[in-house]
Amino acid sequence: MPILAIETSCDETSVAVVRSGCVLANAVSSQTKLHAEYGGVVPELATREHLRNLLPLARAALAEANVSVGEIRAVAVTRGPGLPNALLVGLKAAQALAFALRRPLVAIHHHEAHLYSPWIRGRTADFENFQPNISLIVSGGHTMLVKVEAELHHLLLGATLDDAAGECFDKTAKLLGLPYPGGPVIDRLAADGNPRAHDFPRPLLDAANDDFSFSGLKTAVRYFLQKNPVLPDDAHGLRDLCASVQTAIVETLVGKTIRAAKREKVQCVTASGGVTCNRQLRRDLAAACERAGLTLRLAEPDYCTDNAAMIAVLAERKLARGLVEPSLDADISPGWSLEAVAV
Ligand code: KG4
Ligand code: ZN
Repeated sequence: MPILAIETSCDETSVAVVRSGCVLANAVSSQTKLHAEYGGVVPELATREHLRNLLPLARAALAEANVSVGEIRAVAVTRGPGLPNALLVGLKAAQALAFALRRPLVAIHHHEAHLYSPWIRGRTADFENFQPNISLIVSGGHTMLVKVEAELHHLLLGATLDDAAGECFDKTAKLLGLPYPGGPVIDRLAADGNPRAHDFPRPLLDAANDDFSFSGLKTAVRYFLQKNPVLPDDAHGLRDLCASVQTAIVETLVGKTIRAAKREKVQCVTASGGVTCNRQLRRDLAAACERAGLTLRLAEPDYCTDNAAMIAVLAERKLARGLVEPSLDADISPGWSLEAVAV
C-alpha cells in the first residue's frame, strides 16, 4: 500500500507517493523565483507559499499516482531540520491527514533522507545494489560528510563550521552582482572560464578532520574584488573568476570526500543536495572516484534538491523494518542533529 510524504523544510513544497520502492509521484513546487528578489530565502514568505501550495500539490501527486487518499497506508513528513514555521505547515498537514485516515504518521530527518536519495534511479528505489558509503550532502544550508555503514546506520564524520558550500556560491554571486541563487549562475559562467586564473584558498583541505569552512573563501573573493574592482564588468574576467572560485569549492569537496572514503575503507561514495547539481562537482567527483577505484552514486538532479520522494522512500524502509514508532504527537525539530537518529 502506498505512502504519502510531505516535505516543507525550506523553500520547496513537495508531496510524493511511493509504493514498494516505486515513486508513483514526486510533485515539487519551487519558490526560488519568489525569494530571488530578496537575495535569499525569506522564512515568512516560504511559510505562506507552503500553505498556498501544499493541498493543490497533494491532490496533483495523488492524481498522478492514480491513488485515492483512502488507499494511503502511512503519512511521512519532514520533522527537521529546517525553518520552524515552514516545517510546521508540513507537519500539521501530515498530522491532520494521518488523523483523518487513522493511519500512522512517520516523522523523518531531512538529512537522513538525503543520505538515501542517491539510491533512487528514475522512479525506482534501488537498494539491491546498496553498499556502505561515504555520503556528501551539499546544499545551501548544509555541507556534511557521513559514513553510511549499512542501510539505516550512519555516523556523522564532519560538517561545515560556518557557511555551507551552496551559501558560498550564493554569497560569491552576490558580491559579483549576479542573481540569486548564485550556484547555477556561477556553474554556467565557469564553464567558459579558466579555473587556474586565480588561486583561492581550499579551506581545511589538508586539515586532519572531515569538517568544512567556506566563509574564508567568500572573504577572499571580497578582498580580491576590492583590489580588482573592474573585473566583474569584464566578461572574460568574470568567467575566470567564477571558474576559479568554483574550482576551489569543488576541489575541497572532492578532496575531503575521497580522503574520508579511503580512510574509512568503503568502496562507494554518494552525493546529494542542491550543489550536487553542479556540473564540475559531478565531473570531478566521478573522475576522482574512478582514479581511486570507488563506485559513485550521484543523486539525480530531481532528487538532489529537496523532494518528498526521498522522505517517502526512507519512511517505507523504516516501516518495513519496524524502525519507527509512529505517533500523531510528533513535534517539529528545527535543529535536529543527524547524530540523534538511526545510529
Ligand atoms: O538543496 P537545495 O535546493 O536547498 C537547500 O539549501 O536546502 O540547495 C540550494 C543550493 C543553493 O545554494 C544553490 O545555489 C545551490 O544549491 N545550487 C548549485 C547549483 N544548483 C543549485 N550550486 C552550484 N552549482 C549548481 N549547478
Ligand atoms: Zn535538503
